[in-house]
Amino acid sequence: MSEREPIGVIGTGYVGLVTAAGFAELGSDVYCVDIDADKIERLKQGEIPIYEPGLEELIAKNRERLHFSTELSDALERARLLFVAVGTPPTYSGDADLSAVHAVVNAMPVSDHHALVMKSTVPAGTGTSIKRLFTATGKDQFRYVSCPEFLKEGSAVKDFLHPDRVVIGDDGDWAGDAVAELYSSLDAPQVRTDINSAEMVKLASNAFLATKISFINEIANVCEETGADVVEVAKGMGLDDRIGPKFLQAGLGFGGSCFPKDVTALKQLAGNSGYHFQLLNSVIEVNELQKRRVMGKLQKHLGTLVGRRIGLLGLAFKPNTDDMREATSLVLSARLQAAGATVIAHDPIAEDEARKLITGIEFAPDALEVARDADAVVLVTEWDQFRALDFEQVAAVMAGTLIIDGRNALDPAAVRAAGLTYEGVGRSH
Ligand code: UDX
Repeated sequence: MSEREPIGVIGTGYVGLVTAAGFAELGSDVYCVDIDADKIERLKQGEIPIYEPGLEELIAKNRERLHFSTELSDALERARLLFVAVGTPPTYSGDADLSAVHAVVNAMPVSDHHALVMKSTVPAGTGTSIKRLFTATGKDQFRYVSCPEFLKEGSAVKDFLHPDRVVIGDDGDWAGDAVAELYSSLDAPQVRTDINSAEMVKLASNAFLATKISFINEIANVCEETGADVVEVAKGMGLDDRIGPKFLQAGLGFGGSCFPKDVTALKQLAGNSGYHFQLLNSVIEVNELQKRRVMGKLQKHLGTLVGRRIGLLGLAFKPNTDDMREATSLVLSARLQAAGATVIAHDPIAEDEARKLITGIEFAPDALEVARDADAVVLVTEWDQFRALDFEQVAAVMAGTLIIDGRNALDPAAVRAAGLTYEGVGRSH
């Protein structure tokens, strides 16, 4: 056993695997448990089921300290702290589905030297109800800690090792201290607080960031009417320390596994406790409208979309991930097809995932093949290789001239110099 505290990680999804690899890198033996036997077998063979830059290398480097099993007892026997990283997807009503979390809680034995450390995003109040469950089942010595994760897909490994902050919510017992000790080697401020507040930090942070995006998207829409340029506006706003430059990138709206889910979960949570969270309704609504606005732009330039060939550059909800959850490309490809257009798309990494979710479109091997014979090309995900495109080549193969830069990631001058028509989001320059 290493000098550092061994830990258990329950759930080997994206959060669980990054957390496990990160703690192994910090020197802990990590016992990973998942009910999916096939996944555990693949992990034992060194196969990483998700795409996340740097994760495969980190797991390979710390192989000796990472142990994979389908048996909860393997973790319980060796670790006091059991990090829970199982899925909490939204239900039809928008509430978080906690059935996987409850299954973990129910599987815990009576113990006075174990703690659940919640990494999964759960509604504020979940910790309290889990502790109540422990009490009702004679497991009141089982400790509970809320330790929300703030990992971003695409930079999760870096985010684990260099977090802005570590939030630990506990009852002021050994478990909270042990979690604090585990994170103490990272150069990051720790926020020690109660369980309810820690849970709320996570939901409120994500809802705030989503609000920032919807806000700048609405500013962009106003810029389109008034002739201002949202990139210039965001630059000017961001220099105010109180606002900051990040998350002021206007575009086709936010997607992913966290923002849509957490904004809705917070809205529901407020609603369930009798508070109508007015602002969050708009954040969601603006985001949905933003995904659809590009249709109007295409129609403005092309007239009818019937029989038009529209190319999509990028399908993932953001670059450096193969995650398609709540991706704008899902809505866009469906709308385009419904309007009678032919859709051809390329994504450097997410094509396999996209094929499971999008039907009726063509997939191209690269960006130039997306552009070939296209009436318009829409940049949906700002992968670096799309930023670096040679627009002279793009212009040479396109049937039309319209480039819609859905992420304001391209150089408008370079696009126009190639004889193409550039249309960004809220851009006048
Ligand atoms: C987010 C949070 O950032 C992270 O702290 C939390 O743990 C999980 O949710 P993630 O979903 O991986 O991370 O992606 P993020 O980089 O935050 O982007 C979310 C979405 O917002 C993407 O669709 C992105 O394109 C969009 N976005 C982001 C904008 O449209 N404009 C911006 O300025 C920033």
